[in-house]
Amino acid sequence: MSADLIQFPGGWLTPASGNLAYNAKRGKNSMTKIEAIIQPSRFEAVKEALTDMGVDGMTVFEVRGHGRQKGHTETYRGREYSVDLLPKVKIEMVVADNLVDPAIDAIIKTAATGKIGDGKIFLSKVDEAIRIRNQDRGVAAL
Ligand SMILES: Nc1ncnc2c1ncn2[C@@H]1O[C@H](COP(=O)(O)OP(=O)(O)OP(=O)(O)O)[C@@H](O)[C@H]1O
Ligand SMILES: [Mg+2]
Repeated sequence: MSADLIQFPGGWLTPASGNLAYNAKRGKNSMTKIEAIIQPSRFEAVKEALTDMGVDGMTVFEVRGHGRQKGHTETYRGREYSVDLLPKVKIEMVVADNLVDPAIDAIIKTAATGKIGDGKIFLSKVDEAIRIRNQDRGVAAL
């Protein structure tokens, strides 16, 4: 029997049926990618808070960016930057959906100073995750 076929009382659900019941049964769409762009000075605290609340995997990028002030009025390490792209840290993590709200709380608690440029959080659905070593899939692969 194909692993993609799921029996339910009324018959079989297949990927081709593309319906919500199939996706719910497979646990698909139960993962979310969180991208948090934060002030570099807050990174260690944010990372620790996320690890403490159970986020296992993350990817961290040193990035440059601007928000709606176009970087002009922000200061970084006490000096005003003349360039319009300021250093930020981007943390990218894919988590089971039940960890999304606690992770957002942890990020806001540790990253917020109340000043402009504190950063932003973006969420998007993740269709699948695969651990290369053993082909674990879905939440088990996180
Ligand atoms: N719409 C966006 N798309 C992609 N990246 C963004 C977006 N808005 C902000 N960023 C990234 O987040 C960083 C921090 O943004 P920032 O906190 O300044 O947002 P803001 O909208 O200007 O809010 P605030 O008024 O609090 O400064 C930016 O430097 C940029 O890297
Ligand atoms: Mg801004």
